[in-house]
Amino acid sequence: MATATSGESGSAKWDGASPGNDDEDIIPRDIRFGILDNPTRHWLEGDFHKTALIDGLSIFLPEGERYFIRSLKHYAPKLEDRQLAAEINGYAVQEAFHTREHVDYNRALAKLGYDVDAMEEPVRKTLHSDKIPIFRLAVTCAIEHLTATLSTVTLRNPQLLDNAAPAYRRLWMWHALEELEHKAVALDVFAFATRNYSSWQRYMLRTMAFNAVAIKFLMITLRNLKLFARVDGVRTGPKFWLRLVWVLFFSPGYWRKCGPLVLKYYMPGFSPLNKDDHDLIRKGRDWLYKEFTALKAQTAPPQAG
Ligand SMILES: [Fe+2]
Ligand SMILES: [Fe+2]
Repeated sequence: MATATSGESGSAKWDGASPGNDDEDIIPRDIRFGILDNPTRHWLEGDFHKTALIDGLSIFLPEGERYFIRSLKHYAPKLEDRQLAAEINGYAVQEAFHTREHVDYNRALAKLGYDVDAMEEPVRKTLHSDKIPIFRLAVTCAIEHLTATLSTVTLRNPQLLDNAAPAYRRLWMWHALEELEHKAVALDVFAFATRNYSSWQRYMLRTMAFNAVAIKFLMITLRNLKLFARVDGVRTGPKFWLRLVWVLFFSPGYWRKCGPLVLKYYMPGFSPLNKDDHDLIRKGRDWLYKEFTALKAQTAPPQAG
């Protein structure tokens, strides 16, 4: 495995895979971002709100991604579509690498003094209460839609991370790319698992699960935002909430950018494949490849002679 080191951002490692040629590929990239070597408080523009909102996403991920893998793997042996079974494998490997990096990310948050255990606790509790495979799958589809939306917005607007600490920027760009590569897998499995349902039953299950996910996600995110603020000594008075509204709706307007894409999930014929993301995936692959090529060149030992 090739290794590159960035003094500012800790060590970043990648096996040096090429950008990838086939747009349909789900390519697991075994990259170490080294976040744990260099935890950075307010890594995005020194801004509490922007950073805490994105760090708050990482809180959901290790537990969430293990849950997604279990949800899909439950159906893998029953599939006759061998290509979809292979996609589940690619999906699971990508999510396993994401889990590994977000475990480190969250450990880095703990090093900075945040009570990560308390933040992760409601995520664990919520996901462990789900026992019925088809419900778990519907929840996975809902969360995959949210992650695909965030990824689309990230790859369309990479400037949002221009002033981020490099290791964090690389990690989120990598994660966004891979989420987009596998955006359709969970819903393809859902279509198989509900093949005997009426279209109305399928629609209700899909959208009710999405409602439940959205409400829980919002509640946990707001709760954890206050826990981040407490450690940083940021007061959570009216100014705090007004600033949150500003960041979400105006500048940079995360929700303004995501909202219309998120709400497409309620369309009866929704499929992630209705939106052609090939250009965006290519752009993400090129970005990642150039970033790591430049990083390796920077840190390669000088040639003799
Ligand atoms: Fe992921
Ligand atoms: Fe995913």
